[in-house]
Amino acid sequence: MNCLQVNKYLSKINSKFLEKMKISVFLVCFLPQTNMENRPHTTVILAMSADGKIADFNRSPARFGSLNDKLHLEKQIASADAVLFGANTLRAYGTTMIISESILLQQRTKVNNHPQPVHIVISPSANLNPDIKFFQQPVRRWLLTTSVGASAWEKSSAFDQILVFETPTGEIDILAVVKYLASVQINRLAILGGGELVASFLELDLIDEIWLTICPLILGGNNAPSPVGRKGFLSALTPKLQLLEVSTVEQEVFLHYGIIHQSEVNLKSQIV
Ligand SMILES: NC(=O)c1ccc[n+]([C@@H]2O[C@H](COP(=O)([O-])OP(=O)(O)OC[C@H]3O[C@@H](n4cnc5c(N)ncnc54)[C@H](OP(=O)(O)O)[C@@H]3O)[C@@H](O)[C@H]2O)c1
Repeated sequence: MNCLQVNKYLSKINSKFLEKMKISVFLVCFLPQTNMENRPHTTVILAMSADGKIADFNRSPARFGSLNDKLHLEKQIASADAVLFGANTLRAYGTTMIISESILLQQRTKVNNHPQPVHIVISPSANLNPDIKFFQQPVRRWLLTTSVGASAWEKSSAFDQILVFETPTGEIDILAVVKYLASVQINRLAILGGGELVASFLELDLIDEIWLTICPLILGGNNAPSPVGRKGFLSALTPKLQLLEVSTVEQEVFLHYGIIHQSEVNLKSQIV
């Protein structure tokens, strides 16, 4: 029995029990991940201060972007099938960003899209306050968690889906996650932060584009988060970017980068 067959078999025997709880458990198979086309196109969208911080040292919600920046973010969200954000981002805001511009809503319904993309929060602990406004917002909510995290929400209807993709060490298996998202027709994924989530995707070379809005303020602070958190990269091994476009609207600069994927770097070095 290969990995796919094992997954199918497990999902059959589990389905009745899990269906009740709207939990999908996936056995993670450690096949080498060679086909990176088998995942959604991913775009990170963040606003940052002129000194490269995405929030203040209290990790307060970042509300320093202008209305132009809000519209820019809405446009990016409107072109996505799903948005993904880290638990700390949800904890900071208590809400998620929904599309409210009527033209964007019309464009989505015209092509038979749901008015709002799926909103996915990643949280192994699933330690989220059920009273936050997020749970009343008119969106489809998915929780990406561990089996331990899932158990806290199994009796609740707060999430439309609870997805568990675990490695044998109990961590969330991001490669399995993106593969699954592609399999359920999530072809465009918008990553809305924060820095920890972005770092984990960058480490796996899973990001295709980055939008950064530079806003006219300085936040400073050694502990204020930046667009890419975690340990960071050594300069020799850093992900490389290609500047695709730059525009200035009033006091803000909108930077749009493409990521040069490791496979492209390898190909170039072979040609040279
Ligand atoms: N300026 C902007 O555009 C912008 C946008 C978004 C957020 N922010 C700011 O950024 C701050 C939050 O960023 P952050 O870096 O602290 O956190 P984050 O990435 O939002 O969330 C981190 C948490 O998400 C979960 N998580 C993220 N990536 C994971 C992965 N690969 N595997 C497993 N779990 C993962 C973990 O949840 P558990 O806690 O459950 O373990 C982790 O503790 C807030 O202050 C917010 O205001 C700014």
